[in-house]
Amino acid sequence: MSDRKPVSLHRLREMHANGEKIAMLTCYDAAFARVLDDAGIDVLLVGDSLGMVLQGRPSTLPVSVDEMAYHTACVARGNRTAWTIADLPFGSYQESTELALRHAVRLMQAGAHMVKLEGGGWTAPIVRHLVERGIPVCAHLGFTPQSVNALGYRVQGRDEAAAGVLRGHAEELAAAGAALLVLELVPAQLARELTGSLSIPTIGIGAGAGCSGQVLVLHDMLGLTPGEPFRFVRNFMQGSASIEQAVRHYVSDVKAARFPDDAIHGF
Ligand code: KIV
Repeated sequence: MSDRKPVSLHRLREMHANGEKIAMLTCYDAAFARVLDDAGIDVLLVGDSLGMVLQGRPSTLPVSVDEMAYHTACVARGNRTAWTIADLPFGSYQESTELALRHAVRLMQAGAHMVKLEGGGWTAPIVRHLVERGIPVCAHLGFTPQSVNALGYRVQGRDEAAAGVLRGHAEELAAAGAALLVLELVPAQLARELTGSLSIPTIGIGAGAGCSGQVLVLHDMLGLTPGEPFRFVRNFMQGSASIEQAVRHYVSDVKAARFPDDAIHGF
């Protein structure tokens, strides 16, 4: 067990200002939360990917607020020091800022330190509403899994027009008070440029090495996901004697910018 102080939003901002990369992984239960925290992960994401990873569903869309609150509470019980983000699931924030607040409060009361929601400029009023009421928010742009039926599973922002729209959304969300921005399946060059121009840290998944930090789905990086791995994933169990060691390798490779390698993992 380390003697690390709890990771705060202030600490994440300090890391960003100092150019220290932020290492994030998804986590859905107390047992893994303990291992990841002991291995030095900065941020745990209770992602709605649990719908696919744990529940075996084809998408994240059926995940409920009750399920997110349950898994957030499990993670909070196992975690001691990592910053914890919980996803607002599909349908829990789109309707109104009041509904978003009610559901964000549930996740914060379950043990989250921050909530994450997906989508562009239309989410800016929701972000502002939550931030003004003391709830830190992580935005999520690029490929947003809750919109898989509209977007298809593909890289976003490839052409100049799409890149311009993405830039505009990122600026709007940062101005609304989002404190972190996940960029998923975005060309490495665009993510690097956005990271350089925004005042808030970016966390990439399939968005190249130029982001302020990285996130992967835990079960993907442990090689537990069946089928061909995504191009942007590395199996950190290869060459590791334990799960804790695999996570330590992930943390050190993210911090040292050895992962991802744009030539292998980038778009
Ligand atoms: O739910 C999740 O795991 C996520 C990551 C893919 C960023 O949102």
